[in-house]
Amino acid sequence: MTQNTSPETNSKLVEYFNECLSVENAAIDRLQTRIDECPLQEGKQRLQQHFEETRGQQNRLQEIISKYGGSPTDAKAHLATPKPPATQLMKKALADTVKSVKGDTDNPLPEEMELIRTKEDAILEHAEIVSYQMLMQLAERAGAQDAIPLLKQNLQEEESMAKWIMDNTPLMLDQLWPKIQSAVTSTANK
Ligand SMILES: [Fe+2]
Repeated sequence: MTQNTSPETNSKLVEYFNECLSVENAAIDRLQTRIDECPLQEGKQRLQQHFEETRGQQNRLQEIISKYGGSPTDAKAHLATPKPPATQLMKKALADTVKSVKGDTDNPLPEEMELIRTKEDAILEHAEIVSYQMLMQLAERAGAQDAIPLLKQNLQEEESMAKWIMDNTPLMLDQLWPKIQSAVTSTANK
C-alpha cells in the first residue's frame, strides 16, 4: 500500500492499471501470431523484440497493481482495429481458393494481408501510447507518483515500436507492393 492515496483511490487505480494489463495480455497473443505469420525477416525480428518488451510491460504493471493492493488480472482485452470491406484482391484470392484446392501461386493475399496486419500493428501501438499517456496523467492527478516511472518505461517502448513500424514502411512496401501491383494488373487484364 502506498501512503499518499486512500484505499478507495488505490482500488480505482488498480482498475485502471488492470485495464491496461488486459491490453498487454491480449497484445502478447497477437504478437505471437504476428511473429509466426510475418513473411518479412526485419518485421519478424522487431516483433520478437516487442514480444519480449511486452512481457516486461506486463511485469511492471503487475508490480504496480500488487503495490496498490490489487490482484493482477489474466483478462485479455478485445484489441479493436478497423474492419474495412474486403478489397478486390482479397475477393479474387477467396474465389481462387474456392475454385482450386491445389492453391494459386499468384495468390496476392499474403502480401496484401501483411500490409493490412502491419497497419493494424501500428494502430494498436498508437492506441497503447494514448492509454499510457492518459494513465500517467491520471496517476499523477491521483497522487500515484511511484507508478509513473514504470508507466513511462512502457510508454517509451510503445513509442519506439510505433516509430519503427512507420520508419520501416518504405522497406516493407519495397517487398510487398510489387506482388500486389502485378496481381492488380493481371486481375485487370482478365
Ligand atoms: Fe506494444
